[in-house]
Amino acid sequence: MNWKIVEFDQVTSTQDIARQLARSGEEEGTVVLARHQTSGRGRQGRAWYSPRDAGIWATCLLKPDLGAEHLLLLPILISVSIASTVEEATGRKTSIKWPNDVYMGTRKLAGVLCEAETISERGTSFVLAGFGVNLITPQGGFPEEIADLATSVESETGERVDADRLLRSILTALAERYEKLLRGERESIVNEALSRDMLKGSFVKLRVGERIYEGRSEGIGRSGGLLLVDNEGKESEFVSGEVIEFNY
Ligand code: BTN
Repeated sequence: MNWKIVEFDQVTSTQDIARQLARSGEEEGTVVLARHQTSGRGRQGRAWYSPRDAGIWATCLLKPDLGAEHLLLLPILISVSIASTVEEATGRKTSIKWPNDVYMGTRKLAGVLCEAETISERGTSFVLAGFGVNLITPQGGFPEEIADLATSVESETGERVDADRLLRSILTALAERYEKLLRGERESIVNEALSRDMLKGSFVKLRVGERIYEGRSEGIGRSGGLLLVDNEGKESEFVSGEVIEFNY
């Protein structure tokens, strides 16, 4: 994978720019990076707070030749790549909250948003693999609605890391695991996620559409879904949904 980083000062969302580029035929491996996003997006329609120079706000254009059932592992491998790289850079342990939130301690440090677009009849033609990593906590702190949830590398470690160097290390880690996924080597990706899984053994409430499921998490399944065991001892693997409560 030859990454090509295209840098912007300010964008609405790096996902928007990457989508325009993809639609006009840009190659796989292009990375849209911005110093500031005015409408950064998170999963489940949430906003992603992306102040100027406070973190890495990036979207990688990927064109994985894989069926939809394998794509669930893509956001997971991205969060694993971020988690292991940040851990190496800071010496501090990170964990993953299914499906793809990266935590340091009890707060979220990074998030991943993958948006797939299908143009051809053959299936997915490109994936916009976006990630945000909070490097510093802005003056005055995070906005009230995320103040208790979010953290940054600086807040956790007292140190500032070099954003450019960290991004390049994340991209190297990501390329290595992405190539594994393309070769069908799913097990090592799932195992890496499992070794950092912060939900395993916890009691979890999962929202899937309008429904709420409850159970004890048994970790992450082979296809990357969340394994929950309900009160009757029945195990199910959920391939989508939002963990709305868990005991940590
Ligand atoms: C989440 O945890 O909800 C996902 C957050 C993803 C944020 C990144 S920042 C770069 C890219 N552009 C966006 O608008 N969102 C993603």
